[in-house]
Amino acid sequence: MDRIRIVGGGKLNGTIPISGAKNAALPLMIASLLTPETLILENVPRLSDVRMLKRILGNHGVDVTVNGKRPGDAATDGEVVKLNAAEIVDTTAPYELVSQMRASFWVIGPLIARMGEAKVSLPGGCAIGTRPVDLLIMALERLGVAIDIEGGYVIARAPKGLRGGEIVFPKVTVGGTHTALMAAVLAQGTTLIRNAAREPEVTDLAECLVKMGARIKGIGTSELEIEGVARLGGARHRVLPDRIEAGTYAFATAMAGGDVQLQGVQPHLLQAALDKLAEAGAEVTPNNEGIRIRRNGAGIAPVDMTTEAFPGFPTDLQAQFMALMTRAGGTSRITETIFENRFMHVQELARFGARIRLEGDAAIVEGTETLKGAPVMATDLRASVSLVIAALAAEGETMINRVYHLDRGFEALETKLGACGAAIERIRA
Ligand code: UD1
Repeated sequence: MDRIRIVGGGKLNGTIPISGAKNAALPLMIASLLTPETLILENVPRLSDVRMLKRILGNHGVDVTVNGKRPGDAATDGEVVKLNAAEIVDTTAPYELVSQMRASFWVIGPLIARMGEAKVSLPGGCAIGTRPVDLLIMALERLGVAIDIEGGYVIARAPKGLRGGEIVFPKVTVGGTHTALMAAVLAQGTTLIRNAAREPEVTDLAECLVKMGARIKGIGTSELEIEGVARLGGARHRVLPDRIEAGTYAFATAMAGGDVQLQGVQPHLLQAALDKLAEAGAEVTPNNEGIRIRRNGAGIAPVDMTTEAFPGFPTDLQAQFMALMTRAGGTSRITETIFENRFMHVQELARFGARIRLEGDAAIVEGTETLKGAPVMATDLRASVSLVIAALAAEGETMINRVYHLDRGFEALETKLGACGAAIERIRA
């Protein structure tokens, strides 16, 4: 298994191009199942989760092709992926595939909507607390789908097609909203989704569905109204920039010190995180091409933070924020409200000498002047990148093991950080 070696202490200076968002690319690719025509997605990040989803979709009969690089294309441009589901050959998503990546469960929405049947394994993915699918199932039931759970599979049937209905989510769920949207667009009649997730990736999916011919009102709000159509067509859509990747490098810059331009990301996608960063003492300057982050001289101030659904502070940046707070000049309290047990990084951060104790759903972080490099282990996608952030500021060498977690969500991490002066290398197994 590959490892990443980092020698900390240097500042970060330069430009980091921000890739297309993984969490948008995945549902957008899944939306290709809704139409026999071709969906063309631009700016798709080169990530192992994307590769895995290509395989999963291939299994259903989706023909996936990737455009080669053309002269003039920037090295950092994402892939142009063409997906064609002219014929769906299999409505089963097997355990071997779905257990590798939770988001692949979402194929259930388009499959049931277009084919009237779907059999999808209960999901796997990052081990961050219990992540049930009860709300996704509830949403489908509200659209007239009969659900059985047998042998670890969710079996969905709607032989006469879906009919619109009212879906009220008792808590905000991104995957629930994606699934409800992808099912409702082909249902007969009108669907109302209340307490819908407002995450930018949900908006990106909704906008792409509209290009495919869907009728959706209230995009970007917590109330979506969908008028079902009989058929969707092809479209071309550019995946929005990855706010989590951008936030990660913003925190990394604040941690290491220096001056970094995050290229191609819009501040409104991650305003809550940028506000916290500014409170912590970094200079945050939005400009025409993205966001510039600087910290030169000033120390890191302790800042309390609570994760929330969008537009609040994203849970996917909680671990990175905690890494930054380990070097703050005082104590901060970080509260996680989205996922229980999303604190696996705490014990790994402790290996650097960080002082963190857990109190229920909160972590109390006592900042310390010096972190020391150590061998650590990546435990999940976002937790692992918090170790990279700590390592950048730690004295001496850090070896990060199990980096396949990083490869699921961060494109060319070592190249991007290396170009800004970080002493980082991948040691191939
Ligand atoms: C998505 C993101 C993930 C992010 C999360 C929250 C992708 C591929 N993943 O995950 O990176 O951390 O949103 O922003 O986009 N819940 C239930 N029942 C359900 C579904 C969810 O109780 O049926 C709970 C979850 O356990 C969690 C909360 O709802 O406590 C939010 O989860 P959800 O928004 O659904 O997360 P994902 O869509 O899985």
